[in-house]
Amino acid sequence: MSSERPASLRGTREGVVGIFDSGIGGLTVTSTIMQALPRERLLYFGDGAHVPYGPRSLEEVRGFSFAITDALLAKGAKVIVIACNTASAAALRALRETHPDVPFVGMEPAVKPAVEHTRTGVVGVIATVATFQSELYATIVERFAHGVEVLHQPCPGLVKQIEAGEFDTPATEVMLRGWLEPLVARGIDALVLGCTHYPIVRPLIERIVGPDVRVIDPAPAIARQLEHVMRRDGIEAPADAQGDLQCFTSGDPQTFSAMMQRLGIHHAPVRQATWEDGSLTLP
Ligand code: DGL
Repeated sequence: MSSERPASLRGTREGVVGIFDSGIGGLTVTSTIMQALPRERLLYFGDGAHVPYGPRSLEEVRGFSFAITDALLAKGAKVIVIACNTASAAALRALRETHPDVPFVGMEPAVKPAVEHTRTGVVGVIATVATFQSELYATIVERFAHGVEVLHQPCPGLVKQIEAGEFDTPATEVMLRGWLEPLVARGIDALVLGCTHYPIVRPLIERIVGPDVRVIDPAPAIARQLEHVMRRDGIEAPADAQGDLQCFTSGDPQTFSAMMQRLGIHHAPVRQATWEDGSLTLP
């Protein structure tokens, strides 16, 4: 892996947009970015070797996030999108401090739009256990709740279920009903998807919560934020550029590729990435 040439792409328009998640969840954000910014070259890493991140400690997820960032920068990333709420909660602040020259775009649960929408005064957030334990989450609720009741519901096991391709099966429905029906019974009229895997089961979620609950996915806001950051820093792809997507996984590339097709992303090569002694190599 040569770090010489790609590292020089930092701060340039020719660099790639580096994106990562624990697995396939960040592909929901990636699809939105591909549509919004078709000229950008995207490089996606899914950490299949360590998914799910949600039950892990924030410290461990922070360690993964730093190593992944180093690998993406070595591949010429000009900006990094942390397409994972858990990794953003664990590492976004520390990454910005360590790499002040690199623009980062992170996920945060969309409590603000939910609070703006609610008429009942009760909103729900579903996310991983680690996200709810983070300081970032506490800060967001403190800043944006404004007297609205924000109900937090962790969904342990849901990411694993989604990674296994169980997007709309009776087992996934039973799990979701167990978490969502009590929220509906308490009067929520907005539900924030606080994990990038969850939009994959959005049809099922919408069926359970019904038409009176607005389901909020922050992916479009993230794509807009990425566009804003690149424009601000003058690093958007040149006007005549042709975008594409390359993927890497530390899990099984064939499984990843099959999932990607199911999510409607075709023609993107998937390569094997490897972890060794805490550092990540993207071939
Ligand atoms: N997509 C990750 C997130 O947004 C999933 C976390 C996990 O792997 O548990 O939080």
